[in-house]
Amino acid sequence: MPAIDPALIPNALRPIIDALCATSIDLSRVIARGPLAGKLGAGVGENSDGDQQKALDVMADEMFEAALRGTGVRYYASEEQEDVVTLDDDGGYALATDPLDGSSNIDVNVTIGTIFSIFEAADNGEASFLRKSSDQIAAGYIAYGPQTLLAMTFGDGTQLYVLDPERCEFVLVEARMTLPEAAKEFSINASNRRHWTPPILAYVEECERGRDGAKGKDMNFRWVGSLVAETHRILTRGGTFLYPVDARPNYENGRLRMVYEVGPMAFLVEQAGGKATDGVDPILSLTAEALHERRPFVFGSAEEVERIAALHG
Ligand code: F6P
Repeated sequence: MPAIDPALIPNALRPIIDALCATSIDLSRVIARGPLAGKLGAGVGENSDGDQQKALDVMADEMFEAALRGTGVRYYASEEQEDVVTLDDDGGYALATDPLDGSSNIDVNVTIGTIFSIFEAADNGEASFLRKSSDQIAAGYIAYGPQTLLAMTFGDGTQLYVLDPERCEFVLVEARMTLPEAAKEFSINASNRRHWTPPILAYVEECERGRDGAKGKDMNFRWVGSLVAETHRILTRGGTFLYPVDARPNYENGRLRMVYEVGPMAFLVEQAGGKATDGVDPILSLTAEALHERRPFVFGSAEEVERIAALHG
């Protein structure tokens, strides 16, 4: 079992975290073998939101669902499944996951990840997840990149672990991550520029003007197309991430899903001293109304996230 410091994890959640760790170690081995492990990036269907499912999306979902049985998870919700699955009638928790985030990067050897969010179980499956984001009791991501990393929070700081592949254990490297207050980098899918709202365009133009504009400093641009990789970079060295509302059909709420992408990342970012909003309001103050709903998402260094809210007037 992975060497996670027991003092940093609530006892009741320990079997869940152990199952997530053991499964992600198995998954990291499959990912590291790439084409030797089969056609991981092959299209195999569509998820509830109309996104193409890749073979690895489905494999990861099946692995996490199977591993979480008997760990105290009563309700399991996944990006890859339309409805909530009841795993154990006696379990006390509800776990939502994007089992394999950033799947367009599977075949190109770029960092992909798993995101999870844990609530106390409510009376029924959907009700367990359709609540205020600040009701989360734990959240985290596993990044499968040059290193396999686990970042997680239980509401008292964001902890960072690195997988030691020789010992097959996650080892604590930072008990409290600190997201730098000021940013030197910004991230947004710039190909959507013509669809943006005026405040988003104004922010990006401010970044582009760099030291010749209101910011008085140059900003670098980065876009990986993998939320886990982007979040990890920003938690480590600051910056801003934006996936805003835009004028494309179906993008009136952005692209990212509230329950298993936006909510958990917001919890991790705020616990590291950063800020996370829908452009204006803190994500943690918002309540999900549907399991697979989308939300616009802006997060990162506090100064920048506040500036973006101010530009929204
Ligand atoms: O939700 C899936 C996801 O791949 C995220 O990991 C990433 O941030 C985003 O979508 C990429 O979106 P786009 O396809 O617009 O670059």
